[in-house]
Amino acid sequence: MDKKEILHLLKEAPIESLLESANTILEKTKGNHVHIRGLIEFSNICSRNCLYCGLRAQNKDIKRYSLTQDNILDAAGAAINAGCDTIVLQSGEVSGAPQWLGEVVREIKNNFHLPITLSVGERKRQDYEYWRDCGADRYLVKHETADPILYEKLHPGFSLNDRINCLKILKELGYEIGDGFMVGLPGQTLESLADDIYLTMQLGADMCGVGPFIPQKNTPLANYANGSPDLVLRIIAILRLALPNANLPATTALATLDPALGQKNGLLAGANVLMPSFTPAEYAENYIIYDNKNRVAVKEAKEVIESCGRTHPLG
Ligand code: 5AD
Ligand code: SF4
Repeated sequence: MDKKEILHLLKEAPIESLLESANTILEKTKGNHVHIRGLIEFSNICSRNCLYCGLRAQNKDIKRYSLTQDNILDAAGAAINAGCDTIVLQSGEVSGAPQWLGEVVREIKNNFHLPITLSVGERKRQDYEYWRDCGADRYLVKHETADPILYEKLHPGFSLNDRINCLKILKELGYEIGDGFMVGLPGQTLESLADDIYLTMQLGADMCGVGPFIPQKNTPLANYANGSPDLVLRIIAILRLALPNANLPATTALATLDPALGQKNGLLAGANVLMPSFTPAEYAENYIIYDNKNRVAVKEAKEVIESCGRTHPLG
């Protein structure tokens, strides 16, 4: 698939035929099964100032937290007891020694023998290498937008190139890489969304999470409109065609804009992953990336999957 073809699918392909093709491929590559990743948002402390995100350092209106190693292990235990097949450890981006997180990874790995995904931002190669040696298998760092000028506007002081380099290094180090981007960012065009899909293909992403942009009231983008969920569904279907074997989550952002049907529609568009949160509720309420963030718990995940006639590992 080249960029022209992608753009055609974005602009003109009838959504029904797109969904049908995506489902045919999904059945062949992934079958009926939906993977469940247990998400632990272990800290909302962040040194960056991404214009769209409520965790940005300049936002003084949220209470910052950091779970202890024991808290994280407890949450991981709960996720695994519930049936999750992977643990995802996510936080804001902070510099600092990698050992603390490495110890957590090692401990979870030794206790549970499951794949572990890290999502803690841009780091130097040595840190990625160290965490891999501690037992991390996958790493999630979304490119967010493939438009280099928009990227620099949204991430003051940082470049798309550095971001892409992280993904390349992670791939070289043997990680499964999780990419992703937002849909409906102010100033984003369909052409640039075609570039997003194309970049994800070029990077050979093993996973790609796509969600609508949702404004957060304490950020510079507070007054912009949210991205279109229908466009997100179209993009998930195109990604299923472009990357037949990739793991594609039906994101929480979809569930935030449409609590009743968002994630179900994501699964029906070709997604095969859900990521319910196992962050203890008293902390999770301060993980405010965007407003009205829907917390998808195990019960809802089960219901959504079963309503699509698909299977899951949840007890
Ligand atoms: N709307 C939608 N998604 C967002 N993210 C951050 N802020 C927003 C927002 N306002 C997503 C980004 C980031 C992840 C932590 O959350 O894709 O990678
Ligand atoms: Fe920090 Fe990530 Fe939010 Fe950017 S998107 S402000 S790096 S938590």
